[in-house]
Formats: sequence, structure tokens, C-alpha cells
Amino acid sequence: MNTQELIAKELKYEMNLYGKRGVALERGQGEFAWDPEGKRYIDCSTGVGVAILGHAHPALVAAISRQAGKLMSCYSPFANEERGRLLERLTNLFGSPSRAFLCSSGTESVEAALKLARKKTGRKGFVSAMNAFHGRSSGALSVTFKEKYRAPFEPLLGPITRTRFNDIESLKSTVTSETAALILEPIQGEGGVRTAREDYLRAARDICTDKGALLIADEVQSGCGRTGKFFAYNHFGISPDIVCLAKGLGGGIPIGATIAREEVCAFTPLEHGTTFGGNPLACAAANTVLDTIEKDGLLEKVASDGAYMAQKLSASLSSKSQFREIRGMGLFIAVELKVPSKEPLAQLAARGVLALPAGEQVIRLLPPFIISRDSLGTVAGTLSEVIS
Ligand SMILES: Cc1ncc(COP(=O)(O)O)c(C=O)c1O
Repeated sequence: MNTQELIAKELKYEMNLYGKRGVALERGQGEFAWDPEGKRYIDCSTGVGVAILGHAHPALVAAISRQAGKLMSCYSPFANEERGRLLERLTNLFGSPSRAFLCSSGTESVEAALKLARKKTGRKGFVSAMNAFHGRSSGALSVTFKEKYRAPFEPLLGPITRTRFNDIESLKSTVTSETAALILEPIQGEGGVRTAREDYLRAARDICTDKGALLIADEVQSGCGRTGKFFAYNHFGISPDIVCLAKGLGGGIPIGATIAREEVCAFTPLEHGTTFGGNPLACAAANTVLDTIEKDGLLEKVASDGAYMAQKLSASLSSKSQFREIRGMGLFIAVELKVPSKEPLAQLAARGVLALPAGEQVIRLLPPFIISRDSLGTVAGTLSEVIS
């Protein structure tokens, strides 16, 4: 089937949830993906920041194939070597004594964090930031900002208080002795790639400690090295009580994780759980992603590629009348325009670059960590062709 036929089929049979962007993908290799007609794209969408090792990375393909032929299913009451190894590594990455819960998506990792916070504190309320996105299941949706996503599904969890992002005074008035947790993205992704200020995150930490509330860092999009450090909060010298991961952790295989300080881990057996969480296939993929990040020095590469790209983009875009600013950290990059980003995104795709929106006027780039400087240069050059 060709691209148009594939799109038509999905539009016919899928629930009306996603819309389509006029592109179908058939295969990928490294930072490239091809459509059924053989057109090649540089993929800076990576399944929304998922394929951090690029497509068909040989180590990941080998690990998944090996594990698929060995053991795919092993419910968590039965132990498994890949799971144990991953749990040990994730808790070591967190730093202080901690424990982890494995699941299969970002929203599930947030859901577990919210339940854990209620269980630990005995409080009901949550504080979340304006423009935050934390997922679509009922708990995660409750702390997500956009009214349009929430309104049809009320009543959700409550009470929820919205605090202004990067506003310390707003934190002081919203986080109280009734708050179970404050949940923040160190870099708001869907909200437009907006980075928290260091003094803001430090104040958030202090205020939570002072009020007896937990601090949850939602690193579903910013984590796993996307900013040049494993957790984005590592840039700011703070330690949350709970951190949520997903997206890049499995390099394409669905997996999420909620990691929490040991003292916070108040769940008792069967108070929380999931069938697929911690399955050996996903754990083998995640272990390989972590091995590859370490072995290939990908955190350092992301940091230096990010600096290179910021400089390239500012050189090629700063004189354009439609250009407003560049934001982000590492390979978590946004180009904000003064006009809607829909048409430039379509033009980018037509010229062989896949990128994402993040709000009305933002072009978001989430390239794989293995991308070459050549391809980054092509992306910057193509952006300068489609922005006037
Ligand atoms: C910060 C953040 N949290 C949670 C989620 C939800 O993740 P998922 O779509 O895997 O449920 C997302 C997804 O974009 C996200 O960016």
C-alpha cells in the first residue's frame, strides 16, 4: 500500500484521536526513516522522543531478538535477571537509596507516582504547573493543564491546584500542608519546551520539604539523557522524592519506570501493579539502551550536539522575520516562531525532515542521540529554508 492508502485505512478504522500528518513510515535506520515510496526523512520526531538510539540500532535489535527467543513474559512475582539488573541500575542512577516500579508507559509512571504520594502522605491534594502535560489516564490527566483534554472527563482526581511555572511566589501560595505532592517537568515538553530556572526548582524542593509534600519530577520526556544528563534535574542540583521515566528508556519498546526514595516507598503488596510492567523483553531493551548510552558516551554527545545545534540554528534563523527564539537543552530543542508552526512543519516534512509541534507556534526537534553532525546541519539548513 502507498502512503495515501495507509493514511486512508487508519482514518477509516482508528478512533478519531490523532489526525494524520500526511506521512507514513515503513522502515528506519539510524536517524533516517523511509516512507513506502522510498522517500527518506531525517527523523527528529523519533516517536515523540522514543527512538533515542535511532532506528534499528544493531545492539538493540540483537538484544530484543535474543530476549524474544529466550523469555518474553515473566510476571513480577516471578524473578528475572533482566528485571533485577534494570531495577538495580535505575535505582543507582537515582542516587540515594531508592526503589523502582516498572510499567509500560509515561502515564502509568505518573499514575504510580501520584498513588504513592497519597499513600505516603495520607493527603489528597496535588499541585501541578500551568501548561504541564503528564499523560492521559485519569490521575495523570488530572494534573495535566489543558482544559480541552480534561473537561469531557471530569470529575477527575482532586483537589488539584495549578501553579504558575517558574514563579516561586505562586509555589509558596499553592503548596500547603494539604498537598500530597508537587509534580513538575524540569523542562515542559508539550507545553512548548520551557526549561525550569534553577532557583525555581531549588525553591520547589525547599517548599515541598517545608510543607511535608513530595516533589515528583516528571522526566518522561526530559529524562534518559535527552538534555545531556541522565535526568534533567541533574542540571539543577536538586533531588526529587519521585521521578517518572518512559519514552526513551526502551529505545522503542514500551517501558516506564517510577523511582522513589526508599523512605517514600509506602506501597504494600498488591496495592499497585501491572501485568506487563517489568517484562523481560522491555527490561532487556532498557538495559541495552542504558549500556549503549554509557559505552558510547551518548550523554556527552547529546550535550555537545545540543550546543552545536543551538549555535547553528541561531546563525541560520536569527535574521528571519518569522523567528522568535530557540529554547531547550541538549537534544531537546524548540524553535518558536511568530506564526503558527503547522505549515513550516508540513514544509519540513516535504523536504525530508520530520519534526513535531509543541503548542501553536513551536517546532520541536527530538533527534536520536546517535544523529550525525551532517544530519544536524541539514536539519538547521532545511529549517532556514522553510522559515521566512
Ligand atoms: C512529561 C510527560 N509526562 C507524561 C507523558 C505521558 O506519556 P505516555 O504518552 O507514554 O503515556 C508524556 C507524553 O508526552 C510527557 O511528555
